[in-house]
Amino acid sequence: LRNLFAPRMGKQRQSFSNHFQPRASSYKVAVLGASGGIGQPLALLVKMSPLVSALHLYDIANVKGVAADLSHCNTPSQVLDFTGPSELANCLKGVEVVVIPAGVPRKPGMTRDDLFNINANIVRTLVEAVADNCPDAFIHIISNPVNSTVPIAAEVLKQKGVYDPKKLFGVTTLDVVRANTFVAQKKNLKLIDVDVPVVGGHAGITILPLLSKTKPSVSFTDEEVEELTVRIQNAGTEVVEAKAGAGSATLSMAYAAARFVESSLRALDGDGDVYECSYVQSDLTELPFFASRIKLGKKGVEAIIPSDLQGLTEYEMQALEALKPELKASIEKGVGFAQKQA
Ligand code: NAD
Ligand code: LMR
Repeated sequence: LRNLFAPRMGKQRQSFSNHFQPRASSYKVAVLGASGGIGQPLALLVKMSPLVSALHLYDIANVKGVAADLSHCNTPSQVLDFTGPSELANCLKGVEVVVIPAGVPRKPGMTRDDLFNINANIVRTLVEAVADNCPDAFIHIISNPVNSTVPIAAEVLKQKGVYDPKKLFGVTTLDVVRANTFVAQKKNLKLIDVDVPVVGGHAGITILPLLSKTKPSVSFTDEEVEELTVRIQNAGTEVVEAKAGAGSATLSMAYAAARFVESSLRALDGDGDVYECSYVQSDLTELPFFASRIKLGKKGVEAIIPSDLQGLTEYEMQALEALKPELKASIEKGVGFAQKQA
């Protein structure tokens, strides 16, 4: 399991080894939606982290069994279960990282935006509780449509007077994981070496892999660029169709989310060399939220890395312009929803 989470920019220290050794400093992590398709494998992967001292699992149902099961693993963290709204506050007190995969997944034929009506309310309610109980925590939003649920979360935190844009993240790590996998397969590269930044948002054409920025440097034909870009953009749908009504990506998502949690914990722990792509409040473009490579630090987003958007190919520049109206509309839909509820 060594180097499970591939390095992003060169020489990141990998702390996912030594799973069974407690660390001098360690952190409390909460997973909201912990008995779901993502929640369960994500909880398992987070349980393996030596940087975690307490793992708080929350769901509206079935969380007791998941916690009992997980608690038998002889890794350092203590597992506690919390069921239903009356236990949510206790779940969140003292927590440093909150991961939110609560909500309904897609079925074939649906877009992520079709989940808005149900998931917007779930995210709003959960983030209200985060604001009340652990306002300083890093918040990782997985629930779709991420392009709208992150702006909803931002508005809720603003309404509560505790919004810190550096600590609110839309989890787009799965897009990077997929891009790395597909590019390595196509170009016969060693998987662990490949790093493709993915920018924009997390739905359809708003997912923009910057293949020209692939590390190690590799050249693609126009056909390869088109084929890889479309595959990365449709990879979620590929899984939804393969599962044929039984949900969307859960295992690869749990892997990606665990990588983002581990990166956040390493940053909190003082590692000065942690980079990930994430959908955050941003001034990189004219859009208020935008996914791009960020540097993570103890206080959250330490820097948004502008260089990935410089020197784009013609194809990438056109794709960037093409995604903006859709992403803008999704952001406005989220903001409008949250303001109406206030
Ligand atoms: P799932 O239905 O298997 O699990 C969702 C869990 O959320 C369930 O256990 C359910 O009880 C729980 N839940 C529902 N309402 C809740 C509430 N108010 N409070 C707490 N928990 C609640 O779904 P899943 O496959 O785990 O997917 C979850 C979400 O993640 C979906 O919206 C899906 O679209 C999204 N997703 C995002 C990405 C990404 O890249 N960001 C990838 C995959 C899936
Ligand atoms: C994904 O990219 O796999 C997720 O956003 C789930 C989905 O609905 O495709």
